[in-house]
Amino acid sequence: MLEEQKSYYEARATEYDEWWERRGRYDLGAEGNALWREEIQKVEAVFDMAPLRGHVLEPAAGTGNWTLYLTRRAEKVTVLDNSRSMIEKNRRRIQEAGLQGRVDYEETDLFCWHPRARYDAIFLGFWISHLPSAVLDPFLLLMASALKPGGCLAILEGQRNGRLRSATQGTSRLNDEIELRTLNDGRTFRIVKRYDDPEDLAKRLERAGLDAQVGASGEQFLYALAFSPS
Ligand SMILES: C[S@@+](CC[C@H](N)C(=O)[O-])C[C@H]1O[C@@H](n2cnc3c(N)ncnc32)[C@H](O)[C@@H]1O
Repeated sequence: MLEEQKSYYEARATEYDEWWERRGRYDLGAEGNALWREEIQKVEAVFDMAPLRGHVLEPAAGTGNWTLYLTRRAEKVTVLDNSRSMIEKNRRRIQEAGLQGRVDYEETDLFCWHPRARYDAIFLGFWISHLPSAVLDPFLLLMASALKPGGCLAILEGQRNGRLRSATQGTSRLNDEIELRTLNDGRTFRIVKRYDDPEDLAKRLERAGLDAQVGASGEQFLYALAFSPS
């Protein structure tokens, strides 16, 4: 399943941004798209206040929607992703912004990855929902171990009942953890997709030794800021 998930994201790299930018089959109409953008601005306002500076680690960075945001604030960003095509898109975006010297790339499988350094901050965008629940706690512990004292772990996810979805998105739920996803060309893949409740996520972050605040942007996003003890 996790291999199929990797293949899915490699194959989806060219069309991934249609979701974030609400184009093609992800278009929610003028009103829905405006609400989506408003909610993105709300979560950006939260992350603007967080210490996402110094050396930032961004596991599962994808095409770089958040890499650009992070690189504009941090001294250095280390991107991890398993998909070569995602990394290429990310690299191009950062080059186009003239920020190439500030981002390192590592093509790696996060299920085998171990930190070789400690980071001032870590940003996980739409990643922990793709972890089977059995590995969520160990993964959060791994992230906590990669933070410097006082470092900040930031998490962004969709809410379980986020209203801004459309029936044409090509997704069907197989069970609590598994979804069937369809690409524009009709290929289908099974991937892990879970939704964390804010209270449960806060408890898990506390168990990983972090001081956590979990919040929601409104109807769409869930975010967390969790700090390692100083
Ligand atoms: C939902 S996307 C999130 C991208 C980005 N963080 C964002 O906010 O748009 C998930 C990312 O995880 C990557 N990924 C999937 N399985 C992986 C694995 N086993 N190891 C590393 N990256 C993986 C995919 O290539 C994809 O870029």
